[in-house]
Amino acid sequence: MEFNNDLDFELEDRLVSTLKREEDHEMDQGLRPKFLKDYIGQTKAKEKLEIFLKASQLRGECLDHVLLYGPPGLGKTTLASIIATEMTANIRITSGPAIERPGDLAAILTNLKAGDVLFIDEIHRLNRAVEEILYPAMEDYALDIIVGKGPSARSIRLDLTKFTLIGATTRAGLLTSPLRDRFGIINKLEHYSMEELKLIVIRSAGILNIPIEEEGAEEIALRSRGTPRIANRLLKRIRDYAEVKGDGKITLSTAHKALELLEIDKLGLDKVDQKIIEVIIQNFGGGPVGIDTLAASTGEEKNTIEDVYEPFLLQKGFLSRTPRGRIASVKAYDHFGFSRS
Ligand code: ADE
Repeated sequence: MEFNNDLDFELEDRLVSTLKREEDHEMDQGLRPKFLKDYIGQTKAKEKLEIFLKASQLRGECLDHVLLYGPPGLGKTTLASIIATEMTANIRITSGPAIERPGDLAAILTNLKAGDVLFIDEIHRLNRAVEEILYPAMEDYALDIIVGKGPSARSIRLDLTKFTLIGATTRAGLLTSPLRDRFGIINKLEHYSMEELKLIVIRSAGILNIPIEEEGAEEIALRSRGTPRIANRLLKRIRDYAEVKGDGKITLSTAHKALELLEIDKLGLDKVDQKIIEVIIQNFGGGPVGIDTLAASTGEEKNTIEDVYEPFLLQKGFLSRTPRGRIASVKAYDHFGFSRS
């Protein structure tokens, strides 16, 4: 399998990681909704897409280019596949880092059939030269190729068939403005509500033939960090527990015990989250502490802290980022059981 980045390997055994793991990929096969009507949550994005899809179908045109952005695990790839299905188009899936040279992208583009969807995950990681090929492709469905070298070099333009580009990124801020400006439809994906996650867990349990009580699904939803990828992963692990230690049914009690064994707390925080907060409070008096110092003291990579752990801690209000460093909040003291005196 292809890892999202170099850090994934270490993070592979972290159950509440939002990064994609091999088991997720296998699981995605049956669990991924295929049509917009089966996709739970993201109501705003769904509503807009429904209209734009219908309008493009009525005109007999392909959909304008779509940018999906937001934290990992919220269903960007799933939504891209749904868009292709709804357009009765083929989807070609690739990613920013996988397209190394302009020629790689030119090959992909010239192989697209009319109306195809090209999905580029982690589109913020495209290199400059590749990105420049994309501009005329998106705007004019054309490929500008330089022929020859030196003073005799000239550019020839090849026509491409019409297609829809769907770009996905966890870091919309890292996109260059010429690239961002070429997307006609921009959608932000948000974390899911407890109710939505519960519905997703119940839906997935149905597909996987896992007997589950509503309270069990609720408990999984509570600890999934607003992320379906985590919810589905926890569901699978709790099923194992229920099958070995119980009668196979996921009840509130089995979910509780399994999550305790997995060391995932009431809010979906695990040992590493706890360690980060603990270091800030115990070693640095609650902060502020610089990210480099925090990385060295916790033994985690700086990038991992920034991209994987911090977003959820910030979102939950356990941590704040200041120009002088990270500070643990009152809420963090209380949740992790530290005295504030
Ligand atoms: N499985 C994972 N994400 C989902 C979603 N948004 N809706 C339904 N099932 C899902």
